Amino acid sequence: FLAAVLSALCAYLLGSLNFAIIVSRLFFHKDIRQFGSGNAGMTNILRTFGKGAAAGVLCGDVLKGTCAVLLGKLFFSLLAPGAGVIYGAYLAAIAAVLGHLFPLYFGFKGGKGISVATGAVLAIEPPIILALVVVFLAMVICTRIVSLSSITVAALYPVFTFVYFTFWGDGSSLPWVNTLFAAVIGALIIYMHRANIQRLRNGTEYKFGQKKENEK
Ligand code: G3P
Repeated sequence: FLAAVLSALCAYLLGSLNFAIIVSRLFFHKDIRQFGSGNAGMTNILRTFGKGAAAGVLCGDVLKGTCAVLLGKLFFSLLAPGAGVIYGAYLAAIAAVLGHLFPLYFGFKGGKGISVATGAVLAIEPPIILALVVVFLAMVICTRIVSLSSITVAALYPVFTFVYFTFWGDGSSLPWVNTLFAAVIGALIIYMHRANIQRLRNGTEYKFGQKKENEK
């Protein structure tokens, strides 16, 4: 129990370090949530402040996801060995994503969770994130719509998790439990994209290479 509380708490506090807000305030003296899509994430930083800032935000948000999961694994292997370290990793991943979406330090208004989840999944199942990144990049290149690509990989994540653990799992965890955790992460990300989904339906979603900014 202590391992679960510590993992979730540390992951939430780490996840709350929203680098889009930190970078925009620190280097541009502005709050990214007042610009573009209003989202505190890498995509909005890219369209508002350019590639350098976006690269910094991406690294920070991915890294905090990875660190949160590694910490979760550490707590579980030290305090609750044999209690399914991978479940501790998933718990930390969900808490880190929640921290990013609802950051404690920034009025609980953060991003949509793709970068932090990428970092977290990288520390849980690297082959899955590799496959998802390939799909994501292919979709961004083909459609130039980041949100659509994010929603697609969020929906595919539980499917890939089920297939991966069913066929290549080491037997230390139950595929359906892992899939459930993955589905929670995927659902959170898709839920945060609800305004994007509305814009996609209206045909007004922002595309890269397009001059006009969309409203929030
Ligand atoms: O990961 C965020 C991305 O999918 C959408 O960002 O700023 O276009 O709403 P944005």
